[in-house]
Amino acid sequence: MTHDPRFVAIDNENCQNSHVLRNPAREVTFPISAENEKIAQEMLELMVTHGNCAGLAAPQIGYDVRIIIYHVDEIAFKYRVDVEAILPPTILINPIYKPLNDEKRADWEGCLSVNTVMGEVRRFTEIAYEGYDLEGRQISGIAKGFLARLLQHEIDHINGVLCLDHFEDDLRHGPIDEMRKIRMAEIEARTL
Ligand code: NI
Repeated sequence: MTHDPRFVAIDNENCQNSHVLRNPAREVTFPISAENEKIAQEMLELMVTHGNCAGLAAPQIGYDVRIIIYHVDEIAFKYRVDVEAILPPTILINPIYKPLNDEKRADWEGCLSVNTVMGEVRRFTEIAYEGYDLEGRQISGIAKGFLARLLQHEIDHINGVLCLDHFEDDLRHGPIDEMRKIRMAEIEARTL
């Protein structure tokens, strides 16, 4: 698979700065700096113009800061069985979460920072999350299903963790083209 140069990837030889994906990112301080605000804007633009991107964390575009952005659009209903609602693009700074119970569910995850493999990952189905907006106002909420998964995936990124770290022997994972075929067949079977 060819590498999209806008994104840092761990498994592409053309990508020199992949260490940023493997180190915990730095906390953002408020009032937010012009530099960090620009990073958030860049992330927003990339996410909405990229056809296949539900969320993005700053390290994925080379910045060592704790900023994530995510949205849930109409297409998610096709790919996921546990979408609760559509959500416009949302920026969350210094985000954290905690699970609200022990329940986990496995579902497919891919990542723009991982070019060669994808797989199923077990995630908490219900979490409480907290963070800040660009003005430094605290945001908190409860997320369920796909949104809970998305937040766990993006918050992992700012802690240096990638979806492939969660692959387990009893779940499917492997070369991206092979896995995509399996996944698409499943989605088609579901929507027939
Ligand atoms: Ni990712």
